[in-house]
Amino acid sequence: MSNLKKRIAIFASGSGSNAQKIMEYFKNSDTIEVGLILTNNPDAFVLQRADNFEIPSHIFDKQEFTKTDNIINLLENHSIDLIVLAGFLWLIPQNLLNAYPNKIINIHPSLLPKYGGKGMYGDKVHLEIMKNNETESGVTIHFVNQHFDEGEIIYQSHFKITKNDNLEMIKFKGQQLEHTHYPKVIEGLLKKMKSI
Ligand code: GAR
Repeated sequence: MSNLKKRIAIFASGSGSNAQKIMEYFKNSDTIEVGLILTNNPDAFVLQRADNFEIPSHIFDKQEFTKTDNIINLLENHSIDLIVLAGFLWLIPQNLLNAYPNKIINIHPSLLPKYGGKGMYGDKVHLEIMKNNETESGVTIHFVNQHFDEGEIIYQSHFKITKNDNLEMIKFKGQQLEHTHYPKVIEGLLKKMKSI
């Protein structure tokens, strides 16, 4: 049964709260499973989360990621169908983009194309949004290409920012949307994918 399931690999550099929600969502699924967690950060809390779900993980450095095919081989050995970036902060190298065309997605904590690009991640995004007195923000799920935050948009969800919202509130509203919608968007994409 297990090898008939569609398999996800999650790349994360930090806490991994989105990875957690995705692992929870698919834990009892008959058709989809998280097969592998990958990180560039040996101290990332996502590694603990992977252990808790008994999902294998792999830590890599820049040399392995950008100068070898090791990661592609690993993903293929784990029969990965879809790569999900969840707080992963490095650009995806061309060999990996070629190996998984239209099968790598990312989540970003703003309404792209606003507040995206190199260096725009986590709190930096929200602080910039606050500085500009935006009255709404949101989250974007998009395909990944060779540029930061530029691939085709798959899904966006909005929330209102009120005058009293501080950084924590804005972050919280965005996170709630991320945690609710990312697993469902992943499920929708995998259901549309032909079996291999
Ligand atoms: C998420 O808010 C995600 O949108 C953001 O990093 C956070 C990771 O949180 N990603 C980016 O900013 C990418 N440019 P998590 O580790 O708790 O899932």
